[in-house]
Amino acid sequence: MPPIQIIVAMTRDRVIGEKGELPWNLPHDLKLFCQLTIGKTVLMGRTTYQSIGKPLAQRRNIVISRSLAVTQGIELCRTFSEGVNLARSFGHDIFCIGGVEIYRQALPLAERLHISWVDGAFSGDSLFPEFELTDWSETDRRSYTGFTYSTYLRKKNAL
Ligand SMILES: NC(=O)c1ccc[n+]([C@@H]2O[C@H](COP(=O)([O-])OP(=O)(O)OC[C@H]3O[C@@H](n4cnc5c(N)ncnc54)[C@H](OP(=O)(O)O)[C@@H]3O)[C@@H](O)[C@H]2O)c1
Repeated sequence: MPPIQIIVAMTRDRVIGEKGELPWNLPHDLKLFCQLTIGKTVLMGRTTYQSIGKPLAQRRNIVISRSLAVTQGIELCRTFSEGVNLARSFGHDIFCIGGVEIYRQALPLAERLHISWVDGAFSGDSLFPEFELTDWSETDRRSYTGFTYSTYLRKKNAL
């Protein structure tokens, strides 16, 4: 079964959003996001889908929502577990791309985290859920202007 992966950009204070938007403009982070997710399955909450405004091209888009009407270009699921089961059935890598509610539900299942640690402080009303970084082993780290991208694998004894 393809593992659940989380991809997120956040500050060291876990800020991920402000008024429904990303508080920063980091084009290279968006480029990395595309490189990692193109050809794969992305799973997101309704708010994140609406803030993006359209399905992400060249990816299977699964949107979790109780309220959204059926929409072309996305696979709509009414519960998180329905979304995960559908994503697994596609057989591609699965990236949970936010927002807060989806990260909270995905975190206990996730085996890999892709975190862009954004430099500096930003005020925000959306925080990534609290988690223990010591439960994760860093497997890759790359520095870019404005952020550091790190990949983590969950330690075996932390599941
Ligand atoms: N920095 C980053 O990497 C990043 C990435 C993504 C998003 N964000 C930020 O995160 C913020 C949005 O987060 P959010 O928590 O408000 O929104 P969200 O997680 O994108 O979406 C929440 C919505 O998803 C649906 N949902 C969630 N769990 C569900 C479940 N178990 N069953 C059915 N539906 C479910 C509900 O939609 P209905 O109300 O339709 O039922 C819920 O209102 C924004 O500020 C955005 O910019 C940041």
